Amino acid sequence: NKIALDEAKKLAARTAVDEWITEDTKIVGIGSGSTIVFAVQRIAERVWKEGALCDLICVPTSFQARQLILDYNLNLGDLDRNPIIDIAIDGADEVDSRMVLIKGGGGCLLQEKIVASCAKHLIVIADYTKRSLRLGEQWCKGIPIEVTPIAHVPIKLKIEALFGGEATLRMALAKAGPIITDSGNFLLDWRFVAKREFDWDEVNRALMMIPGVVETGLFVDNAHKCYFGMADGTVKVQN
Ligand code: A5P
Repeated sequence: NKIALDEAKKLAARTAVDEWITEDTKIVGIGSGSTIVFAVQRIAERVWKEGALCDLICVPTSFQARQLILDYNLNLGDLDRNPIIDIAIDGADEVDSRMVLIKGGGGCLLQEKIVASCAKHLIVIADYTKRSLRLGEQWCKGIPIEVTPIAHVPIKLKIEALFGGEATLRMALAKAGPIITDSGNFLLDWRFVAKREFDWDEVNRALMMIPGVVETGLFVDNAHKCYFGMADGTVKVQN
């Protein structure tokens, strides 16, 4: 009796919002993707139905998140006015046993990592399919890497020479050509050899040293807690 994936996402999102967003929370970072929608809905419910959290300011991590904040009529903030964030809530594409995350399936990793870095805590919300012992077990689309457009070919070659696997330029579906991120960059998806043992902190640092790499979708030391909506309708919390 597996619950639907959306139900699992909703469960994780609502539990995390109710545990982490209190009247003391002033600024919340709003992640991107499909799971965060349920978190924003729960925040809006508390604001508009329960008359709570009326001064809460929401800082978006993407165009999508900004739109969500506006659609639900929440207070929109930004990093100029709100550079210190109490809690950032965000989804993930995969979470390993040490809480290293792959993010950026939706292409928003740069702003997501910036907002996470400004937050006292990053709380991750996900359904049970995102949980794995080691990266690459569940998520097969690789690690997204945001790059400066002119450098995408040399960066691809350098990544493959350093760590093997294959890095491919992410192409748009409804437009001819590559996907352009919210910050005007390209994305490489690096499909690493899943059987190889990687030190993700080291890999992340090495990737960041390649000129033209803007940010990686590897979140090594960012997550404080992960809430997984499980197939049996329970929520599992990982620290
Ligand atoms: C966006 O770029 C991603 O980092 C998302 O946070 C991640 O892909 C999770 O998305 P879902 O909530 O749709 O699984």
